[in-house]
Amino acid sequence: MVALAKRKQDEFQAFYTNCNYITSYMVGLLQCHGDVSILDPCAGEGAFIEGLMAVNDVPNITAYELNNDSVKILQSKYSDSSNIKIEQEDFLLPFQLNFKKFDRVIANPPYGAYQSPEKRKQLKNDYPRLYAKETYGLFLIKAMELLKDNGRLVFIVPDTYLTLHMHEGLRKELLRSYEIESIVLFPSNFFPSVNFGYAGLSIISIVNKTPSNTYSFPVYNGLSTSKELPDLLTAKRKKYEICRLTYSQLSNNPSSAFFLPSKRWINLALSTNSLKVGDICSVVTGFYSGNDGKYLRRSASVTRGVKKYAIINSDEVCNDDLSIKPPLDGLNNSSCWVPIVKGGNKRFYKSSEWFMDWSEEAIYDYKVVNKKRARFQNPQYYFHQGIGVPMVSSSSITASLIDGRLFDQSIVGIFPKNKSENLTYFMLGFFNSTVCNDLIRTINASTNNSANYIKKIPVIMPNEMMLNQITNEVKRVLTLSKKRDIAYDDLIKLNKYYDGLYGAKSA
Ligand SMILES: C[S@@+](CC[C@H](N)C(=O)[O-])C[C@H]1O[C@@H](n2cnc3c(N)ncnc32)[C@H](O)[C@@H]1O
Repeated sequence: MVALAKRKQDEFQAFYTNCNYITSYMVGLLQCHGDVSILDPCAGEGAFIEGLMAVNDVPNITAYELNNDSVKILQSKYSDSSNIKIEQEDFLLPFQLNFKKFDRVIANPPYGAYQSPEKRKQLKNDYPRLYAKETYGLFLIKAMELLKDNGRLVFIVPDTYLTLHMHEGLRKELLRSYEIESIVLFPSNFFPSVNFGYAGLSIISIVNKTPSNTYSFPVYNGLSTSKELPDLLTAKRKKYEICRLTYSQLSNNPSSAFFLPSKRWINLALSTNSLKVGDICSVVTGFYSGNDGKYLRRSASVTRGVKKYAIINSDEVCNDDLSIKPPLDGLNNSSCWVPIVKGGNKRFYKSSEWFMDWSEEAIYDYKVVNKKRARFQNPQYYFHQGIGVPMVSSSSITASLIDGRLFDQSIVGIFPKNKSENLTYFMLGFFNSTVCNDLIRTINASTNNSANYIKKIPVIMPNEMMLNQITNEVKRVLTLSKKRDIAYDDLIKLNKYYDGLYGAKSA
């Protein structure tokens, strides 16, 4: 989320590049020598135009902008400059560009700007393989299409395109038809007045040139302030180069993700054709009643949601072992409230504090009357033995046991498949380990643990003796977690086992 979330900013995402170091670095990367045509597809108040004019005498600039107020400012600044053309148009919609192409494009596009449902529909139609909700990817792809052969573009955008599943289409297009010259990563607070909770920022430079399979490009990281950005235009850049990414390698990664090999063992684990969580476990999302205020109750120990949720009476709770014959059609007696495992980052064991109405009438409501709002999804896993990982982590990934209970849609349920049923404790420990956290955060840099990412985590199997040792240690920590919260020190022994399996300490 963007810290400054005013309505105006929601609509246009108008964060201006009022940082000279960022603009001068981007203008430097663009390399505008001689008589080049330049496009700024969302010019705002002209931060890049000013930057370009400071180093080039009369650059030929076409600037698009949608917002009335910004257009007025642009016109007042540049109406006397015949080389600067201001167009008040929506850059994302098909308008008459007369198929003009440009030598250079520079932009700070809106990130996730609001779009009407009709416009989103049209964009989905125009760019079926792209994620139409996130405007920066659409600006990027459209600008790429408007580059002349060997033309160059420089964009400042969130770093989520590197790994997020929904940007797969954008990554594939980049790898197929363009040479990425460089990517620099830095925290969003380099940008005055902006601070994303969910991602960092990046500046990417791209040339319209068909790449060879062996093509590679540098990634820079580790800058401490925006003042260091212009260093990347000099020989000092070597100091910040964390890796070179090769197109052949990126194309082979799951969903062509741009993993950054910060640690060699992660690179090895992700690049081999190793077993993945999805090969040995079913990874699924859980249940939602459609009306928790009515169907969910809490134990008296829960202090959250006291107004919304009634307290459960202990004689209404079904205490049977529901894993023996999962009651998927409901329970027909008065003890018909079943324990449900919910989100929240507690490791190993969450005691039963929440209960769902599982009467036959309630089931009829979830499945029939209210089926549009309710999610009676993946019922074949309800009341089974498995592991629950909250969809969003607070800091590290955490996991707890689903022992014959229901699980709700805010957690991802992981159920070892038939032949791997003996792995439940091993996997429970794994999902609480630092190696697992390093792996999933490389697969996806945000704190999101959706089923798609979890499925891709590589699993290295222990031999039988090691499996027994790990299982016993997990059982010990599990017992402890029923008495108190698990601290980092409780996990030292377990982390050593998983570090050893993945070679995490030696690499
Ligand atoms: C993040 S601001 C950047 C402005 C300027 N390039 C800068 O760096 O200061 C994005 C700009 O895009 C404009 N904008 C948003 N949607 C647009 C669209 N569909 N077509 C053209 N401009 C748009 C906004 O009004 C805003 O001025």
